[in-house]
Amino acid sequence: MAWWARAPEKAVNLTDAMLPYDTLISGGTIIDGTGNSPYQADLAIKDDRIVEIGDLHHALAVRKIDIQGKCLAPGFIDTHTHDDHACMSASFMEPKISQGVTTVVVGNCGVSLAPLDHPSAVPEPINLLGESEDFRFPDFQSYFDAVDAARPATNVVALVGHSSLRVAAMPDLGRSASSKELDAMIGMLDDAMRARAGGLSTGVFYPLGRAADSDEIIPLVRTAGEYGGIYATHMRNEHDAVLESMREVFEAAREGGASLLISHHKCAGARNWGRSRETLALLDSVRTTQDVSLDMYPYDAGSSVLDLDLLEDGMRVLITWSTAHPSASGSYLHEIAQEWGCTEREAGEALKPAGACYFFMSEEDVRRIMQHPLAMIGSDGLPMDRHPHPRLWGTFPRVIRRYAMEQGLFPIEEAIREMTGLPAGRFGLRERGTLAVGNYADLVVFDPLTIADRATYENPAEASEGIDHVFVNGRLTWSDGQGPPAGYGRLLRRDAGG
Ligand code: ZN
Ligand code: CU
Repeated sequence: MAWWARAPEKAVNLTDAMLPYDTLISGGTIIDGTGNSPYQADLAIKDDRIVEIGDLHHALAVRKIDIQGKCLAPGFIDTHTHDDHACMSASFMEPKISQGVTTVVVGNCGVSLAPLDHPSAVPEPINLLGESEDFRFPDFQSYFDAVDAARPATNVVALVGHSSLRVAAMPDLGRSASSKELDAMIGMLDDAMRARAGGLSTGVFYPLGRAADSDEIIPLVRTAGEYGGIYATHMRNEHDAVLESMREVFEAAREGGASLLISHHKCAGARNWGRSRETLALLDSVRTTQDVSLDMYPYDAGSSVLDLDLLEDGMRVLITWSTAHPSASGSYLHEIAQEWGCTEREAGEALKPAGACYFFMSEEDVRRIMQHPLAMIGSDGLPMDRHPHPRLWGTFPRVIRRYAMEQGLFPIEEAIREMTGLPAGRFGLRERGTLAVGNYADLVVFDPLTIADRATYENPAEASEGIDHVFVNGRLTWSDGQGPPAGYGRLLRRDAGG
């Protein structure tokens, strides 16, 4: 009897493990994250990696997804977030995963959840991250372990917040650190960098960090720089003194030997509209000798805690949360003042502690900054806000829809590069950010005809349209408007793959 006619002793099953690929995504247009022109190809995933790109339509795979007419890009990297606490809960990450984000950078603007263990007070703007009981990590290793254990929906890169170090080390924040306090801060930062945090962030704009001078900041930048960490900064001033602030951070980065990232770059206040011509020229003049970059979000309103010093005649202010008057969330300050029969300042005083969106940028500056080749996209979304700025849900599709496709500000492959390949390089995320064989399979499939942000200032918690599928480390995490409860993200340690 021929071998093939014999009944098998055991039923042979072509099990999933025997198939060459776990997932085959075929028929789409690849935008690979490098800025190169899009091209047609199929892409195959095995485990957490991209294992083949090419003509694979005959290949076998456990799951095949036909994406005719759709685009396939690296998952977006949100370079500027405050998801320190949010990343540990799946529902809080829906704003990100639903717009195609597969990696978030947390710990920005000088505020990070670690190293802080139940601080007695949670002063502004640290309160953007949560309440006192959320701060339960005396060091970065314990924070990293908690993030890993929580199985985050996206990958997470964590920066060490300078203001958090100050709260941990200094009883009086109204002055520069003493040498003993500075040593304590350097010790904690060094610990975090040893645990492979991504770098240092400062927020000397805020009262918590404002008293820090260069004698305090430069040694900290140096500590981060020694490990190859980045120095991200919410500068002292983004209004009239924006150029002076840029010079201050260029110097700190140069002296400290770290690569610089200017956070949410803007020219705020009507008086300063149009000055991105000057700020970008200054950036260009130092980029030949210094490692510099910036992040930005595609809106002309900023958002943070309510700061009455930022109020300006004629500027609209939208309240995003208020402890004293929770129902004021979503209303404009001038309307509240009118209703209460008082000035905006008085209304603001009564609302605090509170959060706000400030309409203080010009569209022209937003466009010019976005177009700069060193610009990366960062949402700066505030996941804990009751009525958040729409950037939390809409940033990435908005850049693609409004600025690349409708306004033709740049080709779509350049928009994608600013969200993927460029930040992966800046943050030293090896084998991520571009579509290449051997890289991690962090992917987004989107429909170029329908992709669009839907979040608005009126209705900010709206998922974007046109994001068909999102893969994190090779696993389908978001598909046709639905995300499974399990997360496949990882804590990404600096200079390490997985
Ligand atoms: Zn900031
Ligand atoms: Cu921020």
